[in-house]
Amino acid sequence: MSYTGRYPNARPRRLRQTDWVRRLTREHTLSPDDLIWALIVHDGADAEVPVAAMPGVARLNVRAAADAAKRAAKLGIPAIAIFPHIDGAKKDAAGKEALNPNGLVCSAVRAMKDAAPDVGIMVDVALDPFTDHGHDGLLEDGRILNDETVAVLAEQALIQVKAGADIVAPSDMMDGRVGAIRAALDGAGHQDTLIMSYAAKYASAFYGPYREAIGSAKALKGDKRTYQMDFGNTDEALREVAMDVAEGADMLLVKPGIAYLDIVTRVKATFGLPTYAFQVSGEYAMIKAASANGWVDEDRIVIETLTAFKRAGADGVVTYFAPKAAEMLG
Ligand code: PBG
Repeated sequence: MSYTGRYPNARPRRLRQTDWVRRLTREHTLSPDDLIWALIVHDGADAEVPVAAMPGVARLNVRAAADAAKRAAKLGIPAIAIFPHIDGAKKDAAGKEALNPNGLVCSAVRAMKDAAPDVGIMVDVALDPFTDHGHDGLLEDGRILNDETVAVLAEQALIQVKAGADIVAPSDMMDGRVGAIRAALDGAGHQDTLIMSYAAKYASAFYGPYREAIGSAKALKGDKRTYQMDFGNTDEALREVAMDVAEGADMLLVKPGIAYLDIVTRVKATFGLPTYAFQVSGEYAMIKAASANGWVDEDRIVIETLTAFKRAGADGVVTYFAPKAAEMLG
Protein backbone atom coordinates (compact mmCIF):
# COMPACT_ATOMS: atom_id res chain seq x y z
CA MET A 1 0.00 0.00 0.00
CA SER A 2 1.24 3.43 -0.90
CA TYR A 3 0.00 6.58 0.86
CA THR A 4 -0.11 10.06 -0.50
CA GLY A 5 -1.53 13.42 0.40
CA ARG A 6 -3.84 15.66 -1.56
CA TYR A 7 -3.11 18.31 -4.11
CA PRO A 8 -1.93 21.05 -3.69
CA ASN A 9 0.04 19.93 -0.62
CA ALA A 10 1.04 16.79 -2.43
CA ARG A 11 2.66 17.32 -5.81
CA PRO A 12 4.06 14.07 -7.23
CA ARG A 13 5.92 16.02 -9.91
CA ARG A 14 8.31 17.36 -7.24
CA LEU A 15 9.96 13.94 -7.27
CA ARG A 16 10.44 13.98 -11.03
CA GLN A 17 11.88 17.43 -11.66
CA THR A 18 15.57 16.54 -11.98
CA ASP A 19 17.64 13.58 -12.99
CA TRP A 20 19.23 13.28 -9.54
CA VAL A 21 15.93 13.08 -7.70
CA ARG A 22 14.55 10.63 -10.21
CA ARG A 23 17.59 8.43 -9.68
CA LEU A 24 17.35 8.82 -5.93
CA THR A 25 13.72 7.71 -5.81
CA ARG A 26 13.79 5.00 -8.51
CA GLU A 27 12.26 1.80 -7.13
CA HIS A 28 13.62 -0.78 -9.57
CA THR A 29 16.92 -0.77 -11.38
CA LEU A 30 18.73 -2.99 -13.80
CA SER A 31 22.32 -4.16 -13.55
CA PRO A 32 24.41 -6.68 -15.48
CA ASP A 33 23.86 -9.00 -12.48
CA ASP A 34 20.27 -9.39 -13.64
CA LEU A 35 21.15 -10.85 -17.03
CA ILE A 36 21.37 -14.38 -18.38
CA TRP A 37 22.67 -14.29 -21.95
CA ALA A 38 20.69 -16.52 -24.35
CA LEU A 39 23.21 -17.87 -26.85
CA ILE A 40 22.77 -20.15 -29.86
CA VAL A 41 25.59 -22.62 -30.61
CA HIS A 42 26.08 -24.77 -33.70
CA ASP A 43 28.22 -27.70 -34.76
CA GLY A 44 29.36 -26.22 -38.06
CA ALA A 45 32.82 -24.95 -38.94
CA ASP A 46 31.90 -21.27 -39.30
CA ALA A 47 32.56 -19.13 -36.24
CA GLU A 48 29.26 -17.30 -36.78
CA VAL A 49 26.17 -17.96 -38.86
CA PRO A 50 23.66 -15.11 -38.70
CA VAL A 51 20.06 -15.96 -37.80
CA ALA A 52 17.93 -14.12 -40.38
CA ALA A 53 14.90 -13.69 -38.12
CA MET A 54 17.07 -12.33 -35.29
CA PRO A 55 19.32 -9.57 -36.66
CA GLY A 56 22.42 -9.25 -34.48
CA VAL A 57 22.17 -12.86 -33.26
CA ALA A 58 24.35 -15.55 -34.82
CA ARG A 59 24.82 -19.23 -34.18
CA LEU A 60 28.32 -19.59 -32.75
CA ASN A 61 30.64 -22.53 -33.09
CA VAL A 62 32.22 -23.98 -29.95
CA ARG A 63 35.29 -21.78 -30.19
CA ALA A 64 33.28 -18.59 -30.65
CA ALA A 65 31.04 -19.66 -27.74
CA ALA A 66 34.12 -19.91 -25.53
CA ASP A 67 35.06 -16.36 -26.57
CA ALA A 68 31.51 -15.25 -25.76
CA ALA A 69 31.93 -16.70 -22.27
CA LYS A 70 35.05 -14.57 -21.79
CA ARG A 71 33.14 -11.55 -23.04
CA ALA A 72 30.36 -12.28 -20.51
CA ALA A 73 32.94 -12.39 -17.73
CA LYS A 74 34.31 -9.00 -18.78
CA LEU A 75 30.83 -7.49 -18.99
CA GLY A 76 29.82 -8.82 -15.58
CA ILE A 77 27.08 -11.06 -16.96
CA PRO A 78 26.69 -13.86 -14.38
CA ALA A 79 25.43 -16.65 -16.63
CA ILE A 80 24.92 -17.83 -20.20
CA ALA A 81 22.13 -20.14 -21.38
CA ILE A 82 23.04 -22.15 -24.45
CA PHE A 83 20.71 -23.53 -27.12
CA PRO A 84 21.97 -25.89 -29.82
CA HIS A 85 21.54 -25.97 -33.59
CA ILE A 86 22.77 -29.34 -34.79
CA ASP A 87 23.34 -30.75 -38.25
CA GLY A 88 20.00 -32.06 -39.56
CA ALA A 89 21.62 -35.39 -40.41
CA LYS A 90 22.08 -36.04 -36.68
CA LYS A 91 18.37 -35.70 -35.88
CA ASP A 92 16.11 -38.72 -35.46
CA ALA A 93 12.69 -39.51 -34.03
CA ALA A 94 14.07 -40.26 -30.55
CA GLY A 95 16.47 -37.30 -30.41
CA LYS A 96 19.31 -39.67 -29.52
CA GLU A 97 21.96 -37.02 -30.16
CA ALA A 98 20.73 -35.34 -26.95
CA LEU A 99 22.51 -38.12 -25.06
CA ASN A 100 25.87 -37.79 -26.80
CA PRO A 101 28.44 -36.86 -24.13
CA ASN A 102 30.70 -35.59 -26.93
CA GLY A 103 27.93 -33.79 -28.81
CA LEU A 104 27.62 -30.07 -29.42
CA VAL A 105 26.12 -29.07 -26.07
CA CYS A 106 28.65 -30.94 -23.93
CA SER A 107 31.55 -29.70 -26.07
CA ALA A 108 30.33 -26.12 -25.80
CA VAL A 109 29.88 -26.43 -22.03
CA ARG A 110 33.41 -27.77 -21.58
CA ALA A 111 34.95 -25.09 -23.80
CA MET A 112 33.02 -22.28 -22.13
CA LYS A 113 33.80 -23.43 -18.58
CA ASP A 114 37.41 -23.77 -19.58
CA ALA A 115 37.51 -20.24 -21.05
CA ALA A 116 35.57 -18.54 -18.26
CA PRO A 117 35.21 -20.74 -15.16
CA ASP A 118 33.42 -18.01 -13.21
CA VAL A 119 30.54 -17.62 -15.65
CA GLY A 120 27.58 -19.89 -14.87
CA ILE A 121 26.55 -22.11 -17.75
CA MET A 122 22.92 -23.05 -18.09
CA VAL A 123 21.71 -25.75 -20.45
CA ASP A 124 18.31 -26.46 -21.91
CA VAL A 125 16.83 -29.86 -21.11
CA ALA A 126 14.45 -30.80 -23.93
CA LEU A 127 14.58 -32.89 -27.08
CA ASP A 128 13.38 -30.47 -29.76
CA PRO A 129 16.82 -29.47 -31.10
CA PHE A 130 17.54 -33.18 -31.63
CA THR A 131 14.29 -34.70 -32.93
CA ASP A 132 13.40 -34.85 -36.61
CA HIS A 133 9.78 -33.96 -35.74
CA GLY A 134 10.75 -30.89 -33.71
CA HIS A 135 8.86 -31.86 -30.55
CA ASP A 136 10.34 -31.63 -27.05
CA GLY A 137 9.45 -35.24 -26.28
CA LEU A 138 9.09 -38.69 -27.77
CA LEU A 139 6.27 -38.98 -30.28
CA GLU A 140 4.09 -42.06 -30.74
CA ASP A 141 1.00 -42.16 -32.96
CA GLY A 142 0.77 -38.39 -32.84
CA ARG A 143 1.01 -38.23 -29.03
CA ILE A 144 3.89 -36.97 -26.92
CA LEU A 145 4.77 -39.66 -24.38
CA ASN A 146 5.25 -38.17 -20.92
CA ASP A 147 6.97 -40.70 -18.67
CA GLU A 148 9.16 -42.18 -21.39
CA THR A 149 10.31 -38.64 -22.26
CA VAL A 150 11.01 -37.82 -18.61
CA ALA A 151 13.37 -40.79 -18.37
CA VAL A 152 15.35 -39.52 -21.37
CA LEU A 153 15.41 -35.95 -20.04
CA ALA A 154 16.87 -37.12 -16.72
CA GLU A 155 19.63 -38.86 -18.65
CA GLN A 156 20.20 -35.80 -20.84
CA ALA A 157 20.49 -33.54 -17.78
CA LEU A 158 23.00 -35.85 -16.11
CA ILE A 159 25.19 -35.98 -19.22
CA GLN A 160 25.17 -32.18 -19.45
CA VAL A 161 26.07 -31.84 -15.78
CA LYS A 162 28.94 -34.30 -16.15
CA ALA A 163 30.25 -32.01 -18.92
CA GLY A 164 30.25 -29.14 -16.42
CA ALA A 165 26.87 -27.41 -16.71
CA ASP A 166 26.03 -25.38 -13.60
CA ILE A 167 22.28 -24.99 -14.10
CA VAL A 168 19.99 -27.42 -15.88
CA ALA A 169 16.85 -25.84 -17.23
CA PRO A 170 14.11 -28.22 -18.34
CA SER A 171 12.06 -26.36 -20.97
CA ASP A 172 10.05 -29.35 -22.15
CA MET A 173 6.95 -29.06 -19.91
CA MET A 174 6.57 -32.80 -19.31
CA ASP A 175 4.93 -33.65 -15.97
CA GLY A 176 7.29 -34.84 -13.25
CA ARG A 177 10.57 -34.05 -14.96
CA VAL A 178 12.00 -31.81 -12.25
CA GLY A 179 11.74 -34.58 -9.66
CA ALA A 180 13.21 -37.15 -12.04
CA ILE A 181 16.12 -34.85 -12.93
CA ARG A 182 16.76 -34.05 -9.24
CA ALA A 183 16.84 -37.78 -8.42
CA ALA A 184 19.16 -38.57 -11.34
CA LEU A 185 21.57 -35.78 -10.39
CA ASP A 186 21.55 -36.63 -6.69
CA GLY A 187 22.01 -40.31 -7.46
CA ALA A 188 25.23 -39.44 -9.27
CA GLY A 189 26.57 -37.15 -6.56
CA HIS A 190 25.47 -33.84 -8.13
CA GLN A 191 23.38 -32.59 -5.20
CA ASP A 192 24.68 -29.06 -5.68
CA THR A 193 23.73 -28.60 -9.33
CA LEU A 194 20.99 -26.03 -9.74
CA ILE A 195 17.69 -26.63 -11.51
CA MET A 196 15.96 -23.68 -13.10
CA SER A 197 12.57 -24.95 -14.09
CA TYR A 198 10.70 -23.49 -17.03
CA ALA A 199 7.85 -23.82 -14.58
CA ALA A 200 5.29 -21.78 -16.44
CA LYS A 201 5.88 -22.03 -20.14
CA TYR A 202 3.15 -21.15 -22.57
CA ALA A 203 2.48 -22.43 -26.08
CA SER A 204 3.39 -19.22 -27.85
CA ALA A 205 3.79 -17.62 -31.24
CA PHE A 206 6.66 -15.63 -29.73
CA TYR A 207 8.99 -18.62 -30.22
CA GLY A 208 8.86 -18.35 -34.03
CA PRO A 209 12.37 -16.98 -34.68
CA TYR A 210 13.94 -19.43 -32.21
CA ARG A 211 12.74 -22.34 -34.29
CA GLU A 212 14.65 -20.89 -37.22
CA ALA A 213 17.64 -20.32 -34.95
CA ILE A 214 17.87 -23.98 -33.88
CA GLY A 215 16.67 -25.35 -37.19
CA SER A 216 13.43 -26.96 -35.97
CA ALA A 217 11.01 -24.64 -37.80
CA LYS A 218 10.58 -26.78 -40.89
CA ALA A 219 10.67 -29.98 -38.87
CA LEU A 220 7.94 -29.19 -36.38
CA LYS A 221 4.80 -31.17 -37.05
CA GLY A 222 1.70 -29.78 -35.38
CA ASP A 223 2.03 -27.61 -32.31
CA LYS A 224 3.06 -27.95 -28.66
CA ARG A 225 -0.29 -27.30 -27.02
CA THR A 226 -0.57 -30.72 -25.37
CA TYR A 227 2.40 -29.91 -23.15
CA GLN A 228 2.97 -26.14 -23.14
CA MET A 229 0.34 -24.05 -21.37
CA ASP A 230 -2.68 -22.24 -22.79
CA PHE A 231 -2.14 -18.49 -22.82
CA GLY A 232 -5.58 -17.91 -21.33
CA ASN A 233 -4.56 -19.40 -17.99
CA THR A 234 -3.12 -18.01 -14.76
CA ASP A 235 -4.13 -20.38 -11.94
CA GLU A 236 -2.72 -23.27 -13.93
CA ALA A 237 0.68 -21.56 -13.89
CA LEU A 238 0.64 -21.55 -10.10
CA ARG A 239 -0.19 -25.26 -10.01
CA GLU A 240 2.66 -25.98 -12.44
CA VAL A 241 5.07 -23.94 -10.33
CA ALA A 242 3.90 -25.57 -7.09
CA MET A 243 4.67 -29.02 -8.49
CA ASP A 244 8.13 -28.00 -9.68
CA VAL A 245 8.93 -26.40 -6.33
CA ALA A 246 7.84 -29.56 -4.52
CA GLU A 247 10.04 -31.60 -6.87
CA GLY A 248 13.12 -29.55 -6.07
CA ALA A 249 13.33 -26.58 -8.45
CA ASP A 250 15.81 -23.99 -7.15
CA MET A 251 14.87 -21.23 -9.56
CA LEU A 252 11.76 -20.57 -11.62
CA LEU A 253 11.35 -19.28 -15.13
CA VAL A 254 8.31 -17.74 -16.79
CA LYS A 255 8.19 -17.78 -20.57
CA PRO A 256 7.56 -15.83 -22.80
CA GLY A 257 8.35 -12.55 -21.10
CA ILE A 258 6.78 -9.20 -21.78
CA ALA A 259 3.25 -10.47 -22.46
CA TYR A 260 3.36 -12.56 -19.23
CA LEU A 261 4.39 -10.04 -16.58
CA ASP A 262 1.25 -10.83 -14.58
CA ILE A 263 2.46 -14.42 -14.28
CA VAL A 264 5.91 -13.26 -13.11
CA THR A 265 4.30 -11.10 -10.45
CA ARG A 266 2.01 -13.82 -9.19
CA VAL A 267 4.68 -16.53 -9.19
CA LYS A 268 7.13 -14.33 -7.29
CA ALA A 269 4.49 -13.22 -4.78
CA THR A 270 3.24 -16.76 -4.19
CA PHE A 271 6.49 -18.72 -3.96
CA GLY A 272 9.20 -16.17 -3.24
CA LEU A 273 11.84 -18.23 -5.03
CA PRO A 274 14.41 -16.73 -7.38
CA THR A 275 12.22 -16.04 -10.40
CA TYR A 276 13.29 -15.19 -13.94
CA ALA A 277 11.58 -14.17 -17.14
CA PHE A 278 12.63 -15.15 -20.66
CA GLN A 279 12.56 -12.35 -23.20
CA VAL A 280 12.18 -14.78 -26.07
CA SER A 281 13.17 -14.73 -29.72
CA GLY A 282 9.94 -13.14 -30.97
CA GLU A 283 10.25 -10.31 -28.49
CA TYR A 284 13.82 -9.76 -29.64
CA ALA A 285 12.81 -9.85 -33.31
CA MET A 286 9.94 -7.40 -32.80
CA ILE A 287 12.20 -4.86 -31.11
CA LYS A 288 14.85 -5.30 -33.81
CA ALA A 289 12.38 -4.98 -36.67
CA ALA A 290 10.73 -1.86 -35.30
CA SER A 291 14.02 -0.17 -34.47
CA ALA A 292 15.49 -1.08 -37.89
CA ASN A 293 12.62 0.89 -39.36
CA GLY A 294 13.27 3.81 -37.05
CA TRP A 295 9.91 3.29 -35.35
CA VAL A 296 11.30 2.82 -31.83
CA ASP A 297 14.61 3.65 -30.18
CA GLU A 298 16.30 0.27 -29.67
CA ASP A 299 18.60 1.24 -26.79
CA ARG A 300 15.82 2.82 -24.79
CA ILE A 301 13.32 0.05 -25.42
CA VAL A 302 15.83 -2.64 -24.39
CA ILE A 303 16.45 -1.00 -21.02
CA GLU A 304 12.77 -0.22 -20.56
CA THR A 305 11.59 -3.77 -21.24
CA LEU A 306 14.31 -5.36 -19.12
CA THR A 307 13.52 -2.99 -16.24
CA ALA A 308 9.82 -3.87 -16.61
CA PHE A 309 10.68 -7.49 -15.78
CA LYS A 310 12.38 -6.32 -12.58
CA ARG A 311 9.42 -4.14 -11.69
CA ALA A 312 7.08 -7.10 -12.19
CA GLY A 313 9.09 -9.04 -9.61
CA ALA A 314 11.67 -10.95 -11.64
CA ASP A 315 15.12 -11.42 -10.15
CA GLY A 316 16.61 -11.51 -13.62
CA VAL A 317 15.97 -11.98 -17.32
CA VAL A 318 17.14 -14.49 -19.92
CA THR A 319 17.71 -12.34 -23.00
CA TYR A 320 19.48 -12.22 -26.35
CA PHE A 321 20.13 -8.54 -25.57
CA ALA A 322 22.35 -9.37 -22.57
CA PRO A 323 25.71 -8.24 -24.01
CA LYS A 324 24.18 -5.07 -25.47
CA ALA A 325 22.37 -4.26 -22.23
CA ALA A 326 25.46 -4.98 -20.12
CA GLU A 327 27.50 -2.66 -22.32
CA MET A 328 24.96 0.12 -21.92
CA LEU A 329 24.72 -0.40 -18.16
CA GLY A 330 28.46 -0.66 -17.71
C1 PBG B 1 12.10 -25.67 -26.54
C2 PBG B 1 12.53 -24.26 -26.36
C3 PBG B 1 11.96 -23.19 -27.04
C4 PBG B 1 12.63 -22.05 -26.60
C5 PBG B 1 13.59 -22.45 -25.68
N1 PBG B 1 13.51 -23.82 -25.52
C6 PBG B 1 10.94 -23.13 -28.10
C7 PBG B 1 9.73 -23.94 -28.00
O1 PBG B 1 9.27 -24.29 -26.93
O2 PBG B 1 9.22 -24.26 -29.06
C8 PBG B 1 12.29 -20.69 -27.09
C9 PBG B 1 13.28 -19.64 -26.91
C10 PBG B 1 13.00 -18.41 -27.69
O3 PBG B 1 11.98 -18.28 -28.39
O4 PBG B 1 13.83 -17.51 -27.59
N2 PBG B 1 12.60 -26.61 -25.70
